[in-house]
Amino acid sequence: MSESAAKVKGAPPVEVHDLTVSYQNKPVLWDVDFELPEGKLIAVVGPNGAGKSTLIKTIMGLIDPVSGHSLIYGRPLEQMRKKIAYVPQRETVDWNFPVSVFDVVLMGRYAHLSLFKRPKKHDKELAMEALEKVGMAEFADRQISQLSGGQQQRVFLARALAQDAEIYFMDEPFAGVDASTEDHILLLLKELRNHGRTVVVVHHDLQTVSGYFDWVMLLNLRLVALGPMETTFTKENLQKAYGGRLNILSQVIELSRKEDFIREPGHE
Ligand SMILES: Nc1ncnc2c1ncn2[C@@H]1O[C@H](COP(=O)(O)OP(=O)(O)OP(=O)(O)O)[C@@H](O)[C@H]1O
Ligand SMILES: [Mg+2]
Repeated sequence: MSESAAKVKGAPPVEVHDLTVSYQNKPVLWDVDFELPEGKLIAVVGPNGAGKSTLIKTIMGLIDPVSGHSLIYGRPLEQMRKKIAYVPQRETVDWNFPVSVFDVVLMGRYAHLSLFKRPKKHDKELAMEALEKVGMAEFADRQISQLSGGQQQRVFLARALAQDAEIYFMDEPFAGVDASTEDHILLLLKELRNHGRTVVVVHHDLQTVSGYFDWVMLLNLRLVALGPMETTFTKENLQKAYGGRLNILSQVIELSRKEDFIREPGHE
């Protein structure tokens, strides 16, 4: 397995073509087709069961699609694993697995190690740095089962940071974290984006979508819309993705407009 293929010149970081995914013959993603731009913070938004996690897992090669394919910088995932990091939705991880916080983060380095090579000092330093970045260094030796939900979330974020990838997929990194941790995680995501990384985040809080992200993907079985926040995060698209719950949605749009000043210029 080659881990070091070069990017195809001009290819987008992520492209998905004609993707259909089913569980037990019931489609949960239908003919999804898109390309993501490089160096943006991109929200993936849609109701529960819309297929958001399934989309990410399929791109990560964890689920086989019924049809279609995805490419990372123009190449199959197997050749590009090093360039792509994944933070799974917290509920889907077995936290009773007997492993220390430090070892979980060190696993982020494994894509960089050639076969049978053990992590080196440099890898361990990067793992520790990543733990410091998320404020979890003092928990390095703790078993992951003995952490609070928000702390577990931060450990998984550290693992992705340690990987030093170019594309980050994060499935609800803000779920169950307190306000100051949310602010801190957002800063880390923006730092990645400011370094040209592509950061794709499943996000449930519609009120903060336009303040936090540059682009938005609205998903509900089908791809409803994808594009820059200003043109894509519209009442019409939200209605298509969420169905009839218009009252709440109208309020969200109003609120989001008011919060627009939060957005940083130059990343539209
Ligand atoms: N392993 C599975 N077997 C069968 N059906 C599944 C499986 N995983 C997910 N599903 C179904 O597929 C659909 C999409 O699930 P998915 O987890 O991708 O949604 P989601 O958009 O991530 O939702 P949430 O916001 O609740 O995380 C749902 O209807 C779900 O019940
Ligand atoms: Mg999900």
